[in-house]
Parts: sequence; C-alpha cells; structure tokens
Amino acid sequence: MSSASFNWSLIHKYGKNFPAVGAEIGVHYGVNAELLLGTINHCMLFLIDPWCESSYLKWTDTIESPGGIEGLEEGFNRVKSVLGNRHNVKILKMESVEASLLFVDKCLDYVYIDAAHSYKASYADIRAWIPKVKAGGTLGGHDYDWPGVKEAVDEYIAEYGKKLFIGEGDYGWWFDV
Ligand SMILES: C[S@@+](CC[C@H](N)C(=O)[O-])C[C@H]1O[C@@H](n2cnc3c(N)ncnc32)[C@H](O)[C@@H]1O
Repeated sequence: MSSASFNWSLIHKYGKNFPAVGAEIGVHYGVNAELLLGTINHCMLFLIDPWCESSYLKWTDTIESPGGIEGLEEGFNRVKSVLGNRHNVKILKMESVEASLLFVDKCLDYVYIDAAHSYKASYADIRAWIPKVKAGGTLGGHDYDWPGVKEAVDEYIAEYGKKLFIGEGDYGWWFDV
C-alpha cells in the first residue's frame, strides 16, 4: 500500500520541483510509484521488484498479495505499460539486495522500502540501501505496524541514534540519513 505520510515528507524536505533521484523497493501494481511521481519532480525513479516468488526470500516472507503470484505478473505488466515508457522511470525486475549492488554509494535522494515484511528481509533491505542514500537524504518505507519491519527499523534507529518519524494512520516511517 502507498504511504501518503512518506510522500508528504518528501515534499516537506525537497519541495515539488527538486529533481529527485529515488528508488522504490517493492512496487507491485505501481500504485505508490505513480503517487511518488505525482508528488515531487523526479530526475529518475528506480522501481525495484522481482515480481515473482524469489529464491532469496520465500513468498511467505512478504506481504500478502490479493492476486498471489498471478497478481505479481499482472502487477509487472501494469507497471510496464503505465510507467515503463516514462523517460524518468527505470524498472529493475530483480530483488532488493541484488539491485542495491548496481548503485554507487550516496547516489539517491531517497529510498522507499515496501517489499518483504519479515525482520530478516527488512533488516537486509535497510542495511543494503542506507549506503546508497546521500547524506541528509531520506530512507523510509511502509508498514511500521508489521512486527518484522518495526523490529528492523527500531534496531537501526537505536544503533545509529537517528530520529524516526512515523506517519499518522498509514504507518509510513522515515528518517534522515
Ligand atoms: C506491498 S507490495 C508493494 C506495494 C507498493 N509499494 C505500493 O504501495 O504500490 C510488496 C511487493 O514487494 C515485492 N518484493 C518481495 N520481496 C522483494 C524483494 N526481495 N525485493 C524487492 N521487492 C520484493 C513483492 O513482489 C511485491 O510486489
């Protein structure tokens, strides 16, 4: 699901016209990706999702999808047709951690994580993407009310003494890197 509070935090930080370079991890039907593109100007938005049951993370590690595996294929087809031709969108059909290796350090203004929701996956995602965000940029995601997400986020915040923001009502979460 999308996170209005996270998107609002981007406007608050960057304003509408800043040429952001961002990444969404876990895209599904692309609903939030469209919202992100409508929220602030993007020089580039990377959309990262394997759109299939992965070998690295079992489907049971991920948030349930109404359409199951078929829903993922449908999601990928939708994202390709609705967003695939945009000059400022790059679709990477691959897993989060694997995709993070393609990025040089400190190249992204923000990363939004809404992929697999287990502690193990959330931990791996946060640690893989933090180095890719510029100093002062934003790392955040969705579903802070999921125990695995909360545990991984809280652990990072405690370890690095960051100030965590939680969206009212939609469980978006984010902090300054
Ligand atoms: C909750 S949905 C994303 C919804 C989307 N953020 C939105 O609000 O429109 C979760 C997605 O995470 C993807 N996912 C699961 N494991 C992943 C991984 N290791 N890396 C990237 N994406 C993953 C699933 O394929 C699924 O499409």
